[in-house]
Amino acid sequence: MKTLLTADPKEAAAIIRLGGVVAFPTETVYGLGANIFDETAVAKIFEAKERPADNPLIAHIGDLSQVEELCSEVTRSARKLIERFFPGPLTVVVKKSERVPVIATAGLDTIGIRMPRHELARAFLADCGTPVAAPSANISGRPSPTTWAAVLEDLDGRIDCILQGEATEIGLESTVVDCTGEVPVVLRSGAIGVEEIRQILPEVAIFDGDLKETAASPGMRHKHYSPRARVLLVDDASEAKWPGNAAFIGLQDHGVAFTKRSICGSAAEYAHRVFAFFRECDAAGIDVIFCQRVDETGIGRALMDRLRRAAEA
Ligand code: TXA
Ligand code: MG
Repeated sequence: MKTLLTADPKEAAAIIRLGGVVAFPTETVYGLGANIFDETAVAKIFEAKERPADNPLIAHIGDLSQVEELCSEVTRSARKLIERFFPGPLTVVVKKSERVPVIATAGLDTIGIRMPRHELARAFLADCGTPVAAPSANISGRPSPTTWAAVLEDLDGRIDCILQGEATEIGLESTVVDCTGEVPVVLRSGAIGVEEIRQILPEVAIFDGDLKETAASPGMRHKHYSPRARVLLVDDASEAKWPGNAAFIGLQDHGVAFTKRSICGSAAEYAHRVFAFFRECDAAGIDVIFCQRVDETGIGRALMDRLRRAAEA
C-alpha cells in the first residue's frame, strides 16, 4: 500500500470516511485513526501497528455531542473532568454504548474518550464527522511518535495516509482516568498532572498495582516506549559510565562526555524531546541511553513512568 502524505485535513478525513487508516497529529503524540463504528477499519489499526488485540483504543471526538454516541452513562466524575479539561490531553473512561464495536475496546464494556485541543486535529476530526478510534501511531512497543517523520519510519506502506503537522507540543500521551467506579482512578499518568485532577476530584485514586499484572488498563501490561538501545536511569550524569557509544538526556550533564546528548531546560522540555531522542539514538547506533531521573510532580510523574517502562524492556 502507498502511504499518502498530506497537510490537508479534508483530504485525510475523506480517507477515514472511506474506511481507511490515517495518522494525525495531536498535542500529545501522533495517533493512528479509523472510523470507530467501522469494524473492518478498526481491525486495520491493530494490524498496521501489530497491536495486541487485548489493548483497547481511545475514541477521539471533535465535538462534545459525540460523547452521547459513545457512552451509555456519563458519571459525575466524568462530567466534571470533561467540563474542566476537554478539549485537552485527558482521556476519560466511561461505560460504552451498544454502538461501539467490541474490537475497539478489546472486549471491555468501557471506552476511553478524548477531545484533542490541537487545531489541525480538530479540523480533521470535524471533517471525519464520526468519532475516530486511535492509539499512538507507532509499531507497538516502540517510542510514541512525536513527528510525522517518526510515523513514516514505523508505518510507511502499512497505512493509507499521514496528516502532516508540526512536532507535537507535549510529547507524552494523555492522562487516562477511569470514571466508571465510585472512586475515579488515574490509570495512566500523562500531560495533565495528578495535582490538577485532584483540584477537580479530591477523592481521585492513583493506580499503583503491579504494572505487569494489572487488568485495569490493559495497555500498561505490554512492553512500551522502547528504543533498540538499552535505557538506564541515573540521578546524575556522573553515574553514567559506559565504554561504548552512550547517549544522555536530562537536565544537567556536569560536563561528562557522551556520543550524543540532550540537555533540557525543564521537565516539560524533557518530555517534549524524549521520544524523538530515543529514535535519533537508534539511528545513530547508540548502545546505551542514560536518562536522568526527575522529580515526580506535574509532568515529571508521567515522564518518570515512561522512562521506567522504557528501562524495563
Ligand atoms: O495522548 C494519547 O492518549 C494518544 C493520542 C493519540 O490521543 N493516544 C494513546 O493511545 O496514547 P494508546 O492506545 O497508545 O494508549 C491508550 C491507553 C492504553 O494504555 C490503554 O490500555 C488505555 O489507554 N485504555 C484505552 N481504553 C481503555 C479502557 N476502556 N479502559 C482502560 N484503559 C483503557
Ligand atoms: Mg501507545
